[in-house]
Amino acid sequence: MTGMPNDLSAFWMPFTDNRGYKAEPRMFERAKGMHYWTPDGRQVLDGTGGLWCVNAGHCREPITQAIAEAAGELDFAPTFQLAHPSVFRLATKLAEITPEGLDRIFFTNSGSESVDTALKIALAYQRSIGQGTRTRLIGRQRGYHGVNFGGISVGGIVGNRRQFLSLPGVDHLTHTYNAEHQAFTRGQPEWGAHLADELEALINLHGAETIAAVIVEPMAGSTGVLPPPKGYLEKLRAITSKHGILLIFDEVITGFGRVGAAFAAQAFGVTPDMITMAKGLTNGAVPMGAVACAEFIHDGIVDNAPPGIELAHGYTYSGHPLAAAAGLATLGIYADEGLFERGAALAGPWADAIHALRDLDVVQDIRTIGFVAGVEMKAKPDAIGARGKAVFHRAFDDGLLVRATADTIALSPPLIASEADIGEIADKLRKAIVTAA
Ligand SMILES: Cc1ncc(COP(=O)(O)O)c(C=O)c1O
Repeated sequence: MTGMPNDLSAFWMPFTDNRGYKAEPRMFERAKGMHYWTPDGRQVLDGTGGLWCVNAGHCREPITQAIAEAAGELDFAPTFQLAHPSVFRLATKLAEITPEGLDRIFFTNSGSESVDTALKIALAYQRSIGQGTRTRLIGRQRGYHGVNFGGISVGGIVGNRRQFLSLPGVDHLTHTYNAEHQAFTRGQPEWGAHLADELEALINLHGAETIAAVIVEPMAGSTGVLPPPKGYLEKLRAITSKHGILLIFDEVITGFGRVGAAFAAQAFGVTPDMITMAKGLTNGAVPMGAVACAEFIHDGIVDNAPPGIELAHGYTYSGHPLAAAAGLATLGIYADEGLFERGAALAGPWADAIHALRDLDVVQDIRTIGFVAGVEMKAKPDAIGARGKAVFHRAFDDGLLVRATADTIALSPPLIASEADIGEIADKLRKAIVTAA
């Protein structure tokens, strides 16, 4: 089916201003490589890898072929007390690229499910090793950990919390962003490592014996691209280790080459106890997420359990055959084309191109790391987000997909981008800011 649909009313769109969108809809009909095409045939350069997920570029042949073959061969197989070969192969391949020791893989269907899975594993682990009083979870302000109850509770975005209930027994660290000390930083800011000491303060307040885990995005993505201050993650690691608290990195965005290595944990040289991931795991082609767990966590739960099911958790589609096929093909492309290294090599030209937008009056900060950028514009008085939305629309209509979170434009192109694509992204964004903002 091609062309614009006649009726837009039945689809209640997620995280969308449904009234605004349906009055002025924009959509994609097909995609290839670095580009999307709209139903009326306009080409749009993908500056965001879809939604931070299409790291290898769109509609890659090995992935589409693997999915088609899997669909014709084994459409579904349960992974509760049964399984199929490719899910084991994918877990093994994935464990080869996760940080050493994080090689027990639990599959989910999304980033939100990965987060809630990791939080549940943390609680189950503490209980399994006789630390059942450790039920408290610590997140961070400006953290985004998806939309399930665990994720919104440890997350730190008021808009995602105020319509709903939060879990009890959750506390938050302060976020790490400070414009005065960090504006226009390339890579990790020098200022801010001391903010990790707040964890000691929370431990003093609640008691270490009540805290199961700390979860942070190593680089906060959805709240505007906030790279971690130098030394900050190292401190979190030291404090959590000292107090028997598990450290979880939510790498749903940073995983799969986005910040200069397979995972941010490797790029920043800090190994957590669990990593949550999704998005780039299948290049966005089939929904799939995963939690990579340290062996001691897996063994702590599995070896201490009475005979029978050790962890009462899982999804009908955990390790779905189509997702497993897509994941294997995706990891194959990342390796064959050296895309993680490519992302790292592009960081320099990328930072140069994007930081050149600094001369625009409305731009108040630019943050780049790896192959990601956040271009923060001054908010219009009494209209937070209006400028971001206007730039997003203007860029789209001029053939560039960007993502606006409030007045920050986030960019995360596929890692196959050429230097010409980088130049085009910067030029089109400049034009959109100048004309729309
Ligand atoms: C860091 C982080 N965690 C979790 C999620 C949720 O992932 P999903 O939308 O696949 O549920 C996201 C989504 O952007 C994310 O950026």
